[in-house]
Amino acid sequence: MQRLKGKTAMVVGAGSIGPGWGNGKATAVTFAREGAQVFCVDRNSAAAEETVKIIAAEGGNAIAFTADVSRAGDVEVMVAACLKAYGRIDVLDNNVGIAEIGSVVEISEADWDRVFAVNLKSAYLAMKHVIPVMARQGGGSIINISSIASIRHLGISYVSYATTKAAMNQMTRTTAVEFAPQNVRVNAILPGLMKTPMVEHSAGLAASYAKGDVEAMWRARDAQVPMGHMGDAWDVANAALFLASDESKYITGIELIVDGGITLKVG
Ligand SMILES: NC(=O)c1ccc[n+]([C@@H]2O[C@H](COP(=O)([O-])OP(=O)(O)OC[C@H]3O[C@@H](n4cnc5c(N)ncnc54)[C@H](O)[C@@H]3O)[C@@H](O)[C@H]2O)c1
Repeated sequence: MQRLKGKTAMVVGAGSIGPGWGNGKATAVTFAREGAQVFCVDRNSAAAEETVKIIAAEGGNAIAFTADVSRAGDVEVMVAACLKAYGRIDVLDNNVGIAEIGSVVEISEADWDRVFAVNLKSAYLAMKHVIPVMARQGGGSIINISSIASIRHLGISYVSYATTKAAMNQMTRTTAVEFAPQNVRVNAILPGLMKTPMVEHSAGLAASYAKGDVEAMWRARDAQVPMGHMGDAWDVANAALFLASDESKYITGIELIVDGGITLKVG
């Protein structure tokens, strides 16, 4: 359908932490299938290259770029490189995120700071440098990948993760109001329990769910969802596609929950 024809999309965290489909990788591929040229950023060069290879094999247009987006210098260079390559940025998808297990008593100060730098500061830095570009162009769409952990306790102790995502929601709303006059839309997606490599490989998640048994973790997560199963990376990618496209041109500052109904229920 070419819903993003003529647009340049920057996907930050466009690789996947393990084999299979993560949210960022599926989003980059979906954007390319809909006609966008995609600037695929990841701190893991091989992961970004893999996404670009998939897009190229399908006849799409993408470039891989290596950056640690928790660092201001890297983000400045990233934005300049995208402008040099494609001349504009219409869509920014802030997808990087890490989950560190632990309550406020358990988590170390260093881990707390690292989770904030990767999950929150990265999105602040990317928006800081991309919004002026979008404003000059006459508008753009920013998608911040949050989590239902920002609004619910999910039975897993990871307060740093939940707190960064809650702050991301309010950063999204505030920024949406402040840049609406420039036609820069800023929305958040709150994925629920998704079956992605990130969940499988996050230290401590399988341990917290099911004593380290990944298959038992998948079963436990499926059972929690009213629809009876977890979502996948394509569910997040399709939500991002809607928010990236002009079909959502009058929508800003929302939290789009993609969770099979889990946040509707108690327990
Ligand atoms: N999978 C779920 O169940 C779920 C649920 C809710 C929200 N989310 C959110 O979805 C997002 C991630 O999804 P994914 O499946 O693509 O994860 P992923 O870990 O597979 O991919 C994220 C990519 O980001 C990269 N990255 C991490 N830190 C970076 C940094 N500082 N600079 C540049 N790149 C960096 C990683 O190398 C990785 O390739 C996160 O924001 C996560 O919180 C996931």
